[in-house]
Amino acid sequence: MKGKMILISVLAGVMLSAGASLLPGSAKAASTYVGSATCAGCHDKEYTNFSKYAKKAHSDRSIKMMAKKLTPEELKECYACHTTGYGQPGGFVSFEKTPDMAHAGCEVCHGPGSAHVDAGGAKALIKGKGRMNVKECEKCHNSERVSNFRFKPMLYGGAH
Ligand code: HEC
Ligand code: HEC
Ligand code: HEC
Ligand code: HEC
Repeated sequence: MKGKMILISVLAGVMLSAGASLLPGSAKAASTYVGSATCAGCHDKEYTNFSKYAKKAHSDRSIKMMAKKLTPEELKECYACHTTGYGQPGGFVSFEKTPDMAHAGCEVCHGPGSAHVDAGGAKALIKGKGRMNVKECEKCHNSERVSNFRFKPMLYGGAH
């Protein structure tokens, strides 16, 4: 138990310094990914709609379906868009280690949520109204498709 605690604090230190070097001059600790299930506790309506209607909620199935035909390297290329926070603190690592992050969850649009959650839901600590832009959808969707997104209606298909 004690050994595990020490390991955790060492890892936390490594993650903090990695975060700090990504954000030079920033005093705030960078927010990390926590997963859609964590959001459900306070945003039940959005989470329920998302789970029922959004293809994103099952985007792991799309890659699992094709996994047998892909090399491990090719499969890794799918993770950036089909999972949450791949390669970033708190984000997707593998189907076994981080099953809760295996879909493209709330945080692919709203950004990593740990600071918002830890503060009990502070608005300023999450990307919400007026701080989101369809351009950000182009990280994963091709620009042609995004230009056809009418922001509001597509929310129901893509989110909640
Ligand atoms: C991290 C990558 C990522 C980002 C960022 C992203 N999406 Fe998606 N989205 C996906 C993936 C992956 C799917 C497909 C899931 C599947 O079917 O496997 C998808 C599916 C969708 C769908 C359903 C597609 C359909 O034809 O029904 C809509 C609508 C959508 N996204 C809208 C958006 C909007 C609007 C934004 C920006 C606010 C956005 N997405 C940002 C990855 C992303
Ligand atoms: C650059 C981001 C990106 C990458 C990388 C990516 N995808 Fe996707 N994928 C998407 C988006 C976005 C959609 C949804 C398209 C839409 O409807 O707008 C999608 C849709 C799909 C679908 C169709 C799902 C359906 O219901 O029709 C399959 C299957 C799929 N992807 C498999 C894969 C596999 C396998 C890989 C890796 C080899 C991969 N994708 C890599 C973004 C990506
Ligand atoms: C495809 C991108 C996308 C995904 C995925 C997504 N959202 Fe959103 N969400 C948005 C956008 C865009 C808005 C802002 C709409 C507006 O400007 O009115 C929003 C608004 C919200 C709001 C504010 C609603 C209000 O009426 O004040 C909450 C809360 C929220 N989302 C929670 C979630 C949760 C929880 C999840 C996951 C279960 C999620 N979102 C997944 C794009 C997304
Ligand atoms: C501990 C409860 C709690 C958790 C967990 C939580 N939220 Fe919130 N969230 C809130 C509260 C409360 C508000 C409303 C704040 C206000 O109106 O001042 C809020 C507001 C929001 C908004 C709207 C912001 C705006 O500008 O209007 C978004 C988007 C959002 N949350 C997304 C998320 C996402 C994504 C997650 C998971 C990563 C999450 N929340 C987890 C409590 C929570």
